[in-house]
Amino acid sequence: MKYWKKYSKEKLIKRIDKALNANVNFQTNKGLGYPVSRLDENVFNTSGSFLDDSPLLKSFVANPNNIGCHTLGKSEPAFKGSQKLEREIIQVLAVDIFKAKEGEYDGYIATGGTEANVQALWVFRNLYKKQFNATLEEMVILSSEDTHYSVHKGSNLLSVENVSIPVDFNSREILKDELDAIVKDLVSKGKKYFMVISNMATTMFGSVDNPDVYAEILEKHKVVYKIHVDGAFGGFIYPISNRESTINFENPHVSSITIDAHKMLQAPYGTGVFLCRKGLIENVLTKEAQYVDGMDLTIVGSRSGANAIAVWMILFSYGYYGWFEKISTLLLRTEWFTEQMDALGVEYFRDPYMNIVTLKSEFVTEKIASKFGLVPDTHNGSNSWYKVIMMDHVEIHDLIKFVDALKLSLKSN
Ligand SMILES: Cc1ncc(COP(=O)(O)O)c(C=O)c1O
Repeated sequence: MKYWKKYSKEKLIKRIDKALNANVNFQTNKGLGYPVSRLDENVFNTSGSFLDDSPLLKSFVANPNNIGCHTLGKSEPAFKGSQKLEREIIQVLAVDIFKAKEGEYDGYIATGGTEANVQALWVFRNLYKKQFNATLEEMVILSSEDTHYSVHKGSNLLSVENVSIPVDFNSREILKDELDAIVKDLVSKGKKYFMVISNMATTMFGSVDNPDVYAEILEKHKVVYKIHVDGAFGGFIYPISNRESTINFENPHVSSITIDAHKMLQAPYGTGVFLCRKGLIENVLTKEAQYVDGMDLTIVGSRSGANAIAVWMILFSYGYYGWFEKISTLLLRTEWFTEQMDALGVEYFRDPYMNIVTLKSEFVTEKIASKFGLVPDTHNGSNSWYKVIMMDHVEIHDLIKFVDALKLSLKSN
């Protein structure tokens, strides 16, 4: 890992102080034109020695606005300190985790996975319009039936049709023959420009799509396509647990990636990340954003610089090896849990590199599911699955209680 290092607490505090000092300070700077200030001291406790030990709270009080995208062109000079930390995050994610070439990527911290997925579709739609004069009717989004509903939101917002590809019930793999038949049919109906959302861990199953399957079929039908990887959940685990993964920027089929820090990384909400190859994000430039000093290339306008600082702190508190150890612990717990399910004869789906185990609902009573907070695939009472996720707070101690309850209920049935 070239950039993903572990820093001492002192270094973290020093770097954050330096970043905040490089931003405009609304306590001392009386800049008259900014529609922004530090947090209201009449309401919030904004001073005191407790802030010295809490760089994140200090950042929230300073309230920097990281508006814009800071990997390309000019940025608003008032917040250059927190923008620099954001650039370091994007560098770690793009280069160290997703194997982009140096300087060959763009990205920013979005409000979440939904925005990052919609941003990708927006970029592709505008690219097709610009490059091919494509109409909305000639474009189509493809994604598996297990894909997060944010893709349906994107389809609705951008007026581009979304077509769901069926998956095998047990393996959750895209059915290649069905995909082939669907693409053939879409082409016969005049679709020429395809946007794919390929999952790097679906919300319900933790299943990982192979983007090369999409690429093979779309190339067979000689259509124009771009692939976005939705790693909102799996982005901070799969590329680390599966060192052979080819779902990254070394894969020429991958154009952009979503990766949420507010899921596996346990960052505050509002920390989804959008990454893409160079040359794409310009397609969503809002030329009318003239009061912002820099290019506006993001769906969201103002966004929290403190959130960027939170993500930076987490990444550099762990470093790559610290994070690897944390992920390995969660995977060991997952392994242990699947062994218990095997012993009980409970059927489930699990990707071997992920920390999600999705149990067939016929093995779990509603009472147990509700007592242990399992999440069903649908809330309308006709669910087929319940998922268990090995997050930081889910320890073997908690899992044992669930396993015992399940054992008892299976015995009595
Ligand atoms: C795979 C996947 N993509 C996108 C999202 C949307 O993320 P957010 O809620 O941060 O907008 C989620 C949320 O659970 C998800 O699991």
